[in-house]
Amino acid sequence: MAFTPRVFSGIKPSGDLHLGNYLGAIRRFVPLQETHETLYCVVDMHAITVWQDPEDLKRWTYEIAAAYIASGLDPSKSIIFNQSQVMEHAELSWIFNCVARVGWMERMTQFKDKSGENSENVSLGLFAYPSLMAADILLYKTTGVPVGDDQKQHLELTRDIAKKFNHDFRKQIKDLGFDEDYFPITETLATGPAMRVKSLKDGARKMSKSDASDMSTIYMMDDADTIAKKIKRATSDAAPLPETADGLAGRAEAENLVGIFAALSNRSVDDVLIEFGGKGWGAFKPALADLAVSVLAPIAGEMQRLVGDRGEMDRILRDGAARARAIAQPTMDEVRRIVGFIR
Ligand code: TRP
Repeated sequence: MAFTPRVFSGIKPSGDLHLGNYLGAIRRFVPLQETHETLYCVVDMHAITVWQDPEDLKRWTYEIAAAYIASGLDPSKSIIFNQSQVMEHAELSWIFNCVARVGWMERMTQFKDKSGENSENVSLGLFAYPSLMAADILLYKTTGVPVGDDQKQHLELTRDIAKKFNHDFRKQIKDLGFDEDYFPITETLATGPAMRVKSLKDGARKMSKSDASDMSTIYMMDDADTIAKKIKRATSDAAPLPETADGLAGRAEAENLVGIFAALSNRSVDDVLIEFGGKGWGAFKPALADLAVSVLAPIAGEMQRLVGDRGEMDRILRDGAARARAIAQPTMDEVRRIVGFIR
């Protein structure tokens, strides 16, 4: 049986959105809504696997939904919703908790990184995080997920859960009239070269909301002056810009700033260097600041407007949740029958 091409992705409301979220994720979601059925979720249930202040959680949930829309996702084309409004996510993740093995979870590098020395004292939810993520994806029989490299292992685990479910319940799945596979084997969607945005203060580290220095991170809600100031004070080096991309090797900060310029202007790095090769930072940084402001300021303005209109935001999220449920409920009805739950 062929599965309908369907895309799902999600972002956790656990901090302010920044340029890395925009270039690495949100902006890449937009074109997919023209070619696929798309669901873009605010994964609030994932966020609470570590402590979240409830007021912050709400604010960040609205902020992500607003960023989706302000960046060009159209709520009439894409299904935009927050995870906790569709309780089938929790229900399917419980069943997956009983399909997946403890050893699979213990191998997750993200869990090991996040729990560190403290692995006995993190929430049980953090341990089961990948099982909830598999439920997000398979609840909609998603065929493609646009995510970065850091989520590859979670996607592999999603495929392992799908395969084990398809295998363990093969007879029931057949009896329901399906071929062997009930769940698809979901692929990672490549959507062009991924921009991995680095800290403005240290080209070896990812741009992150948890950076100690506010100057290292451009937030999506920063105003024009703040964006320009952060770019002008970004760490660079003493040499002029090289003529080609090869010349950026070993110059992490330069590579990051030129990469940001290329991504924001939809040009290749070599193309940007045709313009700036041989020039100094005094020429490049103001140009980058102008470009960043011209792309990000209108998005920030629209985000401000949307987060200020809770009525409108609630309406969009409720409508998205209803449309998500319309796909999720028939799946859950079947899953309950497959595992033998009486209704
Ligand atoms: N774990 C993802 C992240 O940290 C967020 C996420 C949750 C997700 N559920 C998902 C991404 C489903 C893609 C599909 O980035």
